[in-house]
Amino acid sequence: MKMKVCRKAHFNAAHRLYRKDWSDEKNFQVFGKCSNPLYHGHNYELIVGVIGDIDPETGFLIDLKIVKQYIKEEVEIPFDHKNLNEEVAEFKNLNPTTENIAIVIWNKLRNKIPAKYDIEVTLYETPRNFVIYSGGTN
Ligand code: NI
Repeated sequence: MKMKVCRKAHFNAAHRLYRKDWSDEKNFQVFGKCSNPLYHGHNYELIVGVIGDIDPETGFLIDLKIVKQYIKEEVEIPFDHKNLNEEVAEFKNLNPTTENIAIVIWNKLRNKIPAKYDIEVTLYETPRNFVIYSGGTN
């Protein structure tokens, strides 16, 4: 029986959305307040969904303690209270939009969570703005 189990997590991080090849004015036109050259923070809320079959022996789909540990190692420790542009290698040359952060998190967790499971990353940048990524290429 297929089901999705979810683990919620949280991190605070600073970012700036901008293109180096654009002026500050153009960056402000496109990215608004998120282009502030001196950075600003968000309280990111993360929901990691793991989709798979329930193990009839345990009644578990996956042990959420393991998912919790992967989120800690792959997301909370490297991202929490960090400046994403300056301190996180994945964003040296990648704009840290909610979309791109979700893809980076998905790829990091995909390398940890066994391949028999599908995974889905939901990332809230604000209580009203969020993205969902489940690994599709189109
Ligand atoms: Ni922002």
